[in-house]
Amino acid sequence: MIYLDNAATSWPKPPEVLRAMTNVLERAGGNPGRSGHQLSIEAARIMYQVREDIAEFFHAGDPLRVVFTSNATHAINLVLRGLLKPGDRVVTSSIEHNAVMRPLRSLEKQGVNLHVIPCASDGSLDVKQVAKALSFGARLVVINHASNVVGTILPVAEIAPIAHQAGALLLVDAAQTAGIMSVDIQAMGIDLLVFTGHKALLGPPGIGGLVISHSVDVSQIEPLISGGTGSQSELEEQPDFLPDKFESGTPNIVGIACLHAGIHWLIGRGIQAIWAHEKELAYALIDGLSAIPNVEIHGTCNPDRSVAIVSFTVAGRHVSEIGLRLDEEHGVLTRVGLHCAPAAHKTIGSFPEGTIRLAPGVFTTRDDIHTAIRAIEKVVRS
Ligand SMILES: Cc1ncc(COP(=O)(O)O)c(C=O)c1O
Repeated sequence: MIYLDNAATSWPKPPEVLRAMTNVLERAGGNPGRSGHQLSIEAARIMYQVREDIAEFFHAGDPLRVVFTSNATHAINLVLRGLLKPGDRVVTSSIEHNAVMRPLRSLEKQGVNLHVIPCASDGSLDVKQVAKALSFGARLVVINHASNVVGTILPVAEIAPIAHQAGALLLVDAAQTAGIMSVDIQAMGIDLLVFTGHKALLGPPGIGGLVISHSVDVSQIEPLISGGTGSQSELEEQPDFLPDKFESGTPNIVGIACLHAGIHWLIGRGIQAIWAHEKELAYALIDGLSAIPNVEIHGTCNPDRSVAIVSFTVAGRHVSEIGLRLDEEHGVLTRVGLHCAPAAHKTIGSFPEGTIRLAPGVFTTRDDIHTAIRAIEKVVRS
């Protein structure tokens, strides 16, 4: 089996991640920060250590500004629904995932003023267009770091000063880059960074988070949910300090411990080396696909400007037929359709059919790519 669906979720996970799961349940099965006994204290200690490591990983400075959520969608909703009020202006791009688009469209109905900047058909975003959109000011700019449909990397560090000059905060959805590219929130000027644990960070499903820069006044963000935090239990009101303000209910300590193991595995391998490996695979995919008749590759076709996500269509053929045959006849696992990002497909010209998306991961080899290309060629030619 050749797994090319790492943009949906990474597979396999390093053995260390699997071991972390049983280890945390055996050693630290208490409820972190709730009870005073040793299993609870150990769970809280692990959780704080992971917070410290994530703060360091994203250059956040203060571990308390790392908020755990159940996934990227939860973290994005936390910011959008907690910050934006009727009358506020929010600027986004036309290649966002529905994790961004759906809450924004729902907030638009409640009176938030939404401006969507059109991206080019390769998914790239012109910084001049951002400056133009921001000449009217905004409360928030929200963009992905790289597209989940074509992999195109958006110029976050160039957009940040423009957003700040316009009085806006910058929220970056790094679901497709965290774990592949280095993300430094201070150097890049990111105010709010969303990550998910189950993709390139190699953790399990059910864990993600939000990193809040010192530039953000958290009193302006209302919590999405409130409830028990293990702190200030004498109060019936939600604590106003981080991270408790945004972390109600029993945390996913298993997911957190596994995410820790995933991040440590990545650091051991080296983020630069991982990106170099994935770029090499993307080049091989683009080379191979370009030689197959009737195949159209979408996006920049330049792995220096994209993460390793290669989307293609075949003239006159349905993407679902190609995907099904690749799976059933050749054991090549891809994702077909709209990838929860209809706006992105409208932008690149593949709506409503969508594309066949190939997303190699850290464990994909060159041989896997060659085998997958041969399989695609057979399916396309027959
Ligand atoms: C760019 C982007 N944003 C957000 C998400 C949502 O991530 P999660 O499934 O962790 O909520 C995804 C998942 O595919 C994504 O690719």
